[in-house]
Amino acid sequence: MPDELQEKRDYLILGYNKFSRIFVMTIFPEDTWIGWLDNLFKLGNINISVKVEPAPARTIVNQLSKKYAQSSAEYQTYERQGNILHLPELETQLHDLKYLRKLIQTNNDKLYFATIFVSLNAETLEELNEKTKLLENEFIKKGTMIRTLSFRQVEGLKTLLPIGELPIPNYERNMITGGIATLIPISNPNLSHNTGIFIGRNAFTNAPVYIDTFIGPPQLPNPHVFICGTSGGGKSVALKLLAARNIATTGCGAFFIDIEGEYTNLTKMLGGNVIKISQGESAGLNPFDLEPDFKGNKQYLNIDDKVAEIRSLISTICRNKQAREIDAEEYAEIEVVVKQLYAEKRHYHRCKFTFS
Ligand SMILES: Nc1ncnc2c1ncn2[C@@H]1O[C@H](COP(=O)(O)OP(=O)(O)OP(=O)(O)O)[C@@H](O)[C@H]1O
Ligand SMILES: [Mg+2]
Repeated sequence: MPDELQEKRDYLILGYNKFSRIFVMTIFPEDTWIGWLDNLFKLGNINISVKVEPAPARTIVNQLSKKYAQSSAEYQTYERQGNILHLPELETQLHDLKYLRKLIQTNNDKLYFATIFVSLNAETLEELNEKTKLLENEFIKKGTMIRTLSFRQVEGLKTLLPIGELPIPNYERNMITGGIATLIPISNPNLSHNTGIFIGRNAFTNAPVYIDTFIGPPQLPNPHVFICGTSGGGKSVALKLLAARNIATTGCGAFFIDIEGEYTNLTKMLGGNVIKISQGESAGLNPFDLEPDFKGNKQYLNIDDKVAEIRSLISTICRNKQAREIDAEEYAEIEVVVKQLYAEKRHYHRCKFTFS
């Protein structure tokens, strides 16, 4: 939360050393492409907020028909006057309008209203003014224009906050789904971890991409990966490659929960175990199996983690089979029993692992 909020004509003071200026996009480019807003982030300390609202198809079709009639009247007037200068431009416009109307009428696309707000932040007013010039130049280079929301800075700030505030009206522009998709900043030009495995090339910059999903914060706070794509698009191949390269180069293990047996060959090829689990058959999974962890080069057995794992397994069984949670006493007893069990087994353990 800012220490204070002072609204000036064309900027905000949000406490000591915090100046902010809010802009709205007034002229949109004719063509957009994936990642066209991305390089604005290189200015640093900038927020871009895109508000998208679906437009009612009927209103849009009526508007497009009206615009089509207007443009075609204009076309005929110029043609009659023999003024050929504007004809090619109008011809393209008429073609586009007709095409768009057809897409919407046949339910092949949808139209949305998009409004783009930008907030630029700086530590001094001079820095803010300097960055404003750079930002305006960036937008002009893209064939677009932004304007400062004069006397409406607080209103602008509210639309930038994730509080579901409706955008300031009259700055929206209609776009079809493809156009809206280009407003989402998904391309990260600098995705490269020096401990990572090669996964391909960045579609925009052609730079090689190396990912280490376990690198941890601040680069990646979560080790989760989501792979999406069309059927037969190569999702399974990508996942297998990711797992195989990880196993081969980083020493990470992989577990597949594989209902269709799709990963059996890969697992065998990589020297792994395939464990069949089916009803009525005893499966070879022992929840008490203990694998050593590594701290640098040193191996050790993490009993506390194992206790937590077994406790969560027992509580899941209790919840599903007996419809109850484990109580505090059982919670403590599990720890005692499991630790005792491992302590007894330790004497028979031939490995030189140390207990943590
Ligand atoms: N990079 C690639 N180069 C060449 N062929 C590929 C590549 N990626 C995938 N394929 C081939 O494309 C086909 C489909 O790939 P895959 O099974 O990975 O798709 P999928 O997205 O997992 O499909 P599904 O949605 O059906 O699970 C396979 O025959 C695979 O060998
Ligand atoms: Mg697949």
